[in-house]
Amino acid sequence: QELELELEAIEKGGYEHFMLKEIHEQPRSIANCMRGRIYADEARINLGGISEYAVKLAQAKRIIIVSCGTSWHAGLVGEYLIEEYARIPVEVEYASEFRYRNPIISEEDVVIAISQSGETADTMAAIELAKKAGATILGICNVVGSSIPRLSHAGMYTHAGPEIGVASTKAFTAQVTALTLLSLYIARQRGTLPASKIATLLAQLQKTPQLIKECLKNEPLVKQIAYEIKDSTNCLFLGRGINFPVALEGALKLKEISYIHAEGYPAAEMKHGPIALIDEQMPVVVIATKDSSYDKIISNIQEVKARKGKITAIVTEGDTIISEIADYIIEIPLCEEALTPILATIPLQLLSYHIAVMRGCNVDQPRNLAKSVTVE
Ligand code: G6P
Repeated sequence: QELELELEAIEKGGYEHFMLKEIHEQPRSIANCMRGRIYADEARINLGGISEYAVKLAQAKRIIIVSCGTSWHAGLVGEYLIEEYARIPVEVEYASEFRYRNPIISEEDVVIAISQSGETADTMAAIELAKKAGATILGICNVVGSSIPRLSHAGMYTHAGPEIGVASTKAFTAQVTALTLLSLYIARQRGTLPASKIATLLAQLQKTPQLIKECLKNEPLVKQIAYEIKDSTNCLFLGRGINFPVALEGALKLKEISYIHAEGYPAAEMKHGPIALIDEQMPVVVIATKDSSYDKIISNIQEVKARKGKITAIVTEGDTIISEIADYIIEIPLCEEALTPILATIPLQLLSYHIAVMRGCNVDQPRNLAKSVTVE
């Protein structure tokens, strides 16, 4: 027993929980996900496990992404990236919904299955269904040699390393990194993006490990904000565009480990319902970085403010406008819009983690949840 505890302490590498260790590992896990795949000067991406299917992928009439939980959120970010850069229509489906309806799938479709564990039963069933209909299957998985890569025609590993905490952290940012690479890879094949733009994005992507380190430095501040939110019974997460899935993921993390009811919403949809919930008891976390929806999100923040909601905003470094309106701000470094999901996720992970710790929750093994769901 004692030996087991000691071993666990060693595995946690000095961190109190696996989740915290995994959050702090992200500069390295992202670097590992990119290793050997980027030739920024040549605007080229090397994806060995996909090259055989490169043409099929570039000619796909449609891409369907199937996944569950956090991996589904990564898929939603992937939808923005692939449609924006590669100009192929993308649908993102919960594997559990996809498998039980009668989806229309053709041989010209490419199905991307995203899974940390590579063992999720619903995702596997969705793959089998699509495969029978003649689609090409591409797996994006973390666990090497797991079932989904074996069921897929082609794929890429995220190489985030073993994730022990039930709440997914480093696997998510690695999935988003992999999808960014994939979207640029397809864009390059199809000629939908100038080589110079691909080169710029790749060079920026290579800097993300360093930028994540900057985000992690805000932990003491995030902890203070966690203290303010910890006794709430509800929490709303808002984002727009490519950061809407980040809001969903922020809410999922909070409910999973702190048991606070949380909802992620596209900020513009707030007026169609959730705004009714806002009062001085309601913390609202908004991703409000300087991107194409910046002005719109400021109006959304003002709408929350007018109803006395407590606002925490994730903003771009040096933002002076939002700090005037929001109760708390957390800065992330300036980066290409496509890369903001990776950076904006970091403070949200830390926020849920510290709230859960303050509430005395079992962070690494939250009640009723399993790391890998191998049953229906
Ligand atoms: C479980 C885990 C989640 C994960 C989901 C999908 O619910 O607790 O963290 O996102 O399964 O798992 P997968 O391994 O397919 O990514």
